[in-house]
Amino acid sequence: MPHQKRKGLPLYVAGLSCCFALWTTAIAFTAPTLQQGASAASGAWGVQQRQARNKHIARQALTVDLTGKVAFIAGVADTTGYGWAIARELANAGATIVVGTWPPVLKMFNMALKKKATDEAKKLDDGSLMEIAKIYPLDAMFDVPEDVPDDVKSNKRYAGVEGYTIEECVEAVKKDYGQVDILVHSLANGPEVTKPLLETSRKGYLAASSASAYSLVSMVQRFGPIMPKGGAVISLSYVAAVRTIPGYGGGMSSAKVRSTHPHLEFKHAPAFCVDSHLLRPKAQLESDTRTLAYEAGRKYGIRVNTISAGPLKSRAASAIGGDGEKTFIERAIDYSVDNAPLDQPLYAEDVGRTALCLLTDLTSAVTGMTMYVDMGLHSMGQSLDSPAYEGLDLKSR
Ligand SMILES: NC(=O)c1ccc[n+]([C@@H]2O[C@H](COP(=O)([O-])OP(=O)(O)OC[C@H]3O[C@@H](n4cnc5c(N)ncnc54)[C@H](O)[C@@H]3O)[C@@H](O)[C@H]2O)c1
Repeated sequence: MPHQKRKGLPLYVAGLSCCFALWTTAIAFTAPTLQQGASAASGAWGVQQRQARNKHIARQALTVDLTGKVAFIAGVADTTGYGWAIARELANAGATIVVGTWPPVLKMFNMALKKKATDEAKKLDDGSLMEIAKIYPLDAMFDVPEDVPDDVKSNKRYAGVEGYTIEECVEAVKKDYGQVDILVHSLANGPEVTKPLLETSRKGYLAASSASAYSLVSMVQRFGPIMPKGGAVISLSYVAAVRTIPGYGGGMSSAKVRSTHPHLEFKHAPAFCVDSHLLRPKAQLESDTRTLAYEAGRKYGIRVNTISAGPLKSRAASAIGGDGEKTFIERAIDYSVDNAPLDQPLYAEDVGRTALCLLTDLTSAVTGMTMYVDMGLHSMGQSLDSPAYEGLDLKSR
């Protein structure tokens, strides 16, 4: 991808290391108090703090211009998740945004996009609104039309939607745009959300892997031939791929899970399902990232990386449920604020900005990598808020 100046909208970033240096030095915000941190998920870090933080993110140094580049983002159905934030950053840099949306939520997403209430989330740095050039139906469970079983074809949530297998989706994008420069895989799904690994069935295990991990392989296989040399792919992972996260998933209520995949006759988990049987797909995703980087690098000259993101209160993650006092994801965010090196909540745009780096020529020599964007939580070996260390004041050392 050629890297040129973009008039009117200077977008920063001098490679990842520089970006992170700028980030950590140029963000002038006050560290939240413990109390703020503990209640971060429930809103103590409100709109103003968030805006202030974003305003102070350094947006100078280099300029990125993605005008004329086509970015396909798989897994966007509302404005709260990582896919949306990544799309917004790419749109800020001038890319043409096309998305792949799961058929059961396609209608809802189309309706939401037309509402005035969505305008704030669409707003770009120059005040204009992000345009999604086209929304393609996409069910990442299916590669080719022959894979789609009759019960899915006849399911009312798929009624009137056609061409949603990965192959058909790629064909449609190719017909419309000729090529794709940027591919983002921002989706995950899995049945048996309430079960620990010891109780997970083979069917449930393989279904989670199919939707959440193999889907990346299938997309790179099929998008690869229409990606020019220098193109870039990213996916979204989670630290549970490499570390055990005890207790996650155990308290999830299946009643809170909203949708059922007709093919599997299983309840489908929200995307942020860190239940044990969905950890394997994330481990697969990270391992596949390395192999795909090698194979697709040699074959097509494209780069493949994954971002291991911290907890985010996306719509899907919010649907996991909780114990009545707090949702599961709110507790995960509070834990991060209390225990990560950087004691602030993570926002979707934090991941969006790193994605932008990884998807441009600024990181043209970076491939096969898992990049943590989690306020550094992954680097901690023990928690700071354990009662075992009470009185040692570890948080302020
Ligand atoms: N939210 C978090 O805390 C968190 C943390 C680390 C990683 N992630 C990862 O980030 C990615 C995006 O998740 P998010 O939390 O931003 O939620 P999200 O709801 O914005 O994104 C998940 C998307 O996956 C789509 N989807 C589900 N099944 C699908 C299928 N079979 N085919 C096509 N699309 C399908 C959903 O419709 C949804 O749009 C996921 O890979 C998730 O595992 C999330």
